[in-house]
Amino acid sequence: MFDIEADKTIVLADSNTVKLLPGLGLDLLPRIVIPSGDENKNIQTLSFVWGELADMKATRHSLLVNAGGGMVCDLGGMAASTFKRGMRFINIPTTLLAMVDASAGGKVGINHCGVKNLVGLFNEPERVVLRMETLCSLDVHNILSGYAEMIKHGLLSGQNLYEKTLSFDILNEDVRALEQLVYENIAFKNSVVSDDFRESGKRKILNFGHTVGHAIEALLGGSQLHGYCVAWGMLVAAYLSVTKAGFPREELTRLQSIVRELYGVVPVDCKSYDRLYELMSNDKKNKGERVNFTLLRSIGEAITDCDVSRDDIFEAIDFIR
Ligand code: GLY
Repeated sequence: MFDIEADKTIVLADSNTVKLLPGLGLDLLPRIVIPSGDENKNIQTLSFVWGELADMKATRHSLLVNAGGGMVCDLGGMAASTFKRGMRFINIPTTLLAMVDASAGGKVGINHCGVKNLVGLFNEPERVVLRMETLCSLDVHNILSGYAEMIKHGLLSGQNLYEKTLSFDILNEDVRALEQLVYENIAFKNSVVSDDFRESGKRKILNFGHTVGHAIEALLGGSQLHGYCVAWGMLVAAYLSVTKAGFPREELTRLQSIVRELYGVVPVDCKSYDRLYELMSNDKKNKGERVNFTLLRSIGEAITDCDVSRDDIFEAIDFIR
C-alpha cells in the first residue's frame, strides 16, 4: 500500500483519529488505538503499544503507520524505534501542527516526570504522507495551534515566507488553500534538519519560542494547546530579541498584535513566575544550569545558545501579559 516492503503493516491511531481511518483507506489493516491527548504521551501508553505489537507478532520487518497528531507521531515513532530494537514507521499527520512540525524531522519520544519529551531519540520516519482533507475535522483552535509553528518558520526563514504566512487568512481560508504553504513549511524545516539532524547546532533555531512556551504548557498542565503556548513563548523571545539582539521593535509590535488577536493574553500571573523559571531550568536543551534561548537579530537571522538572566526573562513575561 505504501510501496514499502513489510511482513505486516499495523496502524496506530488515537481515540479521535480512529474515525479518519476509513477515509485514509486504512480501515482494513490491524490497528492499535490509544487514548488521545498529550497527557497520554507517556510510558504507560508506550508500554501498551509495545505489548500490542508483541501480541500482533510484529517483527523488525513490520511497518507501523502513525495516523494522528503530534502525540501519535511522537509516541508511535518512539514505539517503532525501540520495539525489537527498531521497526520502520511512517507518519500520516492529521493536524496542522503535526504536518508542519512533529511529523517531520525524526524527533520521537514521550513526556515523563512532568517534563515534555523528556525521553526520546532521533529517528526518521520512512515517509510522511500528507492528506490535507484530514484538516477538515479540526476546530479553529487546532488550526491556530499549527499556525503558530508556521509563524515561527516564517520568522526563522526570512521575509518571504513570513509575509506569505501573515497574509494568509488562516481563520477564513479553506484548509485546502493551505497546502502550498504547508509544503513550504516542511521544505524549510527539512532544510534545517538536513544540516543538523541531531540538533548540535543549526537545528536549535527551531526552538524559537519553545523555552518559555514549553514551560507555560507544563505550568498550565496541558490545558492550552501547544501552538498557543509557543505563540506566547515567541512573544517573550521576540521581546528579548529586541533588548538583547537588536531585533526591530516595530516587528515586535507587529507580532504582538497578531498574537493578541489570534491567541489572546497568556493566562499566567506573576505568582507563577518562579515555577515557570524552574520549568525553564529543567529544559533538556539547557547546558548545566543556564536557561538557553534562541533569539532573532532580524527576520531570517536567528542566534542560538543565548544566555538570559532570570530578571530579564521576568521582564519579558511582564511585557506579554
Ligand atoms: N520541533 C523542533 C524540531 O523538530 O527540532
